[in-house]
Amino acid sequence: MLSNQAGDGKRTSLHGHWSSRMAFILAVTGSAVGLGNIWKFPYIAGQNGGGAFVLVYLVCVVVIGMPVMMSEILIGRRGRRNPVATMQLLGKEEGSSNKWGWVGGMGVIAGILILSYYSVIAGWTLAYVVKSASGVFVDASAAAVSDQFSGFVGDWRVVALCHTLFMGLSVFVVARGVERGLEQAVRFMVPALLLLMLVLLGYSINSGFFDEGVAFMFTPDFERLTWNSVLAALGQAFFTLSIGMGAIMAYGAYLPEETSIIGASAAVVTADTAIAILAGLAIFPLVFANGLNPADGPGLVFDTLPLAFGQMPGGVFFSTVFFILLSFAAWTSAIGLMEPAVAWIVERFHKTRAQATVAVGLLIWFIGLGSVLSFNVLAEFKFLAGTIFANVDYLTSNIMLPLGGLLITVFAGWVMCRNSTADELRGSGKLYKSWRLLARFIAPIGILLVLFNAVF
Ligand code: TRP
Repeated sequence: MLSNQAGDGKRTSLHGHWSSRMAFILAVTGSAVGLGNIWKFPYIAGQNGGGAFVLVYLVCVVVIGMPVMMSEILIGRRGRRNPVATMQLLGKEEGSSNKWGWVGGMGVIAGILILSYYSVIAGWTLAYVVKSASGVFVDASAAAVSDQFSGFVGDWRVVALCHTLFMGLSVFVVARGVERGLEQAVRFMVPALLLLMLVLLGYSINSGFFDEGVAFMFTPDFERLTWNSVLAALGQAFFTLSIGMGAIMAYGAYLPEETSIIGASAAVVTADTAIAILAGLAIFPLVFANGLNPADGPGLVFDTLPLAFGQMPGGVFFSTVFFILLSFAAWTSAIGLMEPAVAWIVERFHKTRAQATVAVGLLIWFIGLGSVLSFNVLAEFKFLAGTIFANVDYLTSNIMLPLGGLLITVFAGWVMCRNSTADELRGSGKLYKSWRLLARFIAPIGILLVLFNAVF
């Protein structure tokens, strides 16, 4: 077996290391920025009444998301293995038990389940690249745009084909390893996506309904806030930051010793949140300008943005580029979703990266067929949270990720000794003390409170 113990007592990773601090930030940003920001955030905010939900989401990002992300990175870097093995190793090393490996195991499963439906939605964005380029949205009415969407998702064969294509693309990159290509893609994609969001923002400012959109997003009406909405906001914070399932832990395993974890986390959280807010600011004015319903659900982005592009000069170009970028963003996230499962199989069963990736990819593809059918053939097949898609989404975002995050912060805050975490976070100063306060008390208590109140 390969040893991952370096001469100075610090471990090194079996899968290679990021070439620089910037490479790590780009990779984590690439995993965080995705469909969660542009597709999911607006529709979840819409379904939960806007303002108050957005406020709770922002509070969750700062007070719970930040400390969980830092905990994941520091655990990952200290263990330098896949999330399961890292949690087992550190559990023992810190005088607790190797049962902590189950936290990693739950993350492996969460990643597989999330990607099963994520890939279906990413397939929609691929299809929208083609639709945009064909010019069907030029000067289209709101009704025509939404007919395009319902016609498209109504045909399960096309949706299944797009899902298959996207999974194929993801398997291809993951099979080739962590570093190659990915950094370059993110370096270009995130700024380009920001730029296009600004173009859309410009359009929505001129739509005549910008104030309504802003009011919807930022005027909190706490009367309408239920514990379920609070849980949805917490789940969205976890989902959008890619935390709670060991993905960031897996990336942390490849992080060079000298990189500041606090600085890197702050950069990622800021970029991710900015893109989500921009997406909301672009979409809600369009919703009101066209008499659409903000609580429309998963089709919201596909019913609104093509409308704006269709009316803009150069709209065919902008729309095509936008959906290409969104597919890219989804792609870099898909890679992160597979990483814990793949790294675990490679280390545990001594398979090659390619073998592990193909096996995981096939499993995810198969589970994803349930979500493919949730929008057509099985649209009326509902239980618990709704369709198969809705259940997989609820189970992962609202239960598994918060639970994973809870266990991760408890591990970093209570099981790991002060010396270990201070060593990784380089400090004993104010920042370190605030992290410790958040990780030991505020984040775990907050998560428990929300989970408990929403579920019971
Ligand atoms: N953050 C991604 C998005 O917003 C989705 C996601 C959730 C993810 N968990 C992840 C991506 C883990 C990579 C790794 O679209």
